[in-house]
Amino acid sequence: MASSAINKYECPGYWGERYAADDSRFEWFVSFASIRPLLGFVRRGSAVLDMGCGTSLFLADLRRDGHRGRLVGVDIVEKAVRALRRETRGLEIEVYCDDVRALRFGASTFDVVVDKGTIDAMICGGAAAVQAACAEVSRVLRVGGRFVVCSHHLVDGMDDWLRPVIDGLTTTTTTTKGDQPVVAWGLDVHALEGGGPTIYIFTKHRASPRGAPSLKMAFHEHAG
Ligand SMILES: C[S@@+](CC[C@H](N)C(=O)[O-])C[C@H]1O[C@@H](n2cnc3c(N)ncnc32)[C@H](O)[C@@H]1O
Repeated sequence: MASSAINKYECPGYWGERYAADDSRFEWFVSFASIRPLLGFVRRGSAVLDMGCGTSLFLADLRRDGHRGRLVGVDIVEKAVRALRRETRGLEIEVYCDDVRALRFGASTFDVVVDKGTIDAMICGGAAAVQAACAEVSRVLRVGGRFVVCSHHLVDGMDDWLRPVIDGLTTTTTTTKGDQPVVAWGLDVHALEGGGPTIYIFTKHRASPRGAPSLKMAFHEHAG
């Protein structure tokens, strides 16, 4: 795809027009069911945020799977927010119109933040927006929490894509106490053999008293 065709995905205006023009619901990249095997850490009572939820049924499917904790979706397009509210009525899912670069929630509100395609959309406009969004994720995620990113970018696109994600997560959370980082991140990269999106699972850890590296990566390959 030509880059001019890709860049539109970054603009809130593009998403507004897309939702205005098309009433059908869409699910980006993967469904809850398809990545459920990777989500064993999501406890039934945990608080989960879907950032840039669009009209995805990820949270609804999580609820139908027996989740009891707080479920929240945010999207920058009001029409998508209204549609998802309608679609999930009765499931006790909160859906707000919010910019992921300036979330309304207090620090350490969530145990899990899920991103399906929002960072991929935002990166088309450059690194700054992604870095700002990930700084917000880092702020609202509690220590021990996970940030699940479903992306069509491969890990070897590090400089173009993963770097601003990591920079956003670490700028606010490696705030030092003396010279010691107070938070460190783990990253598990789950790649499906034969393609499909890559699932990046970041874990926010309390750093060891000696100071841990700010990011420790592990790779996992799964049969397709
Ligand atoms: C590729 S779609 C993914 C939608 C949904 N997560 C899914 O899996 O189907 C990207 C979504 O991000 C939303 N979005 C883009 N920029 C945003 C921002 N700054 N804040 C909140 N949502 C944003 C768009 O409105 C759109 O719904």
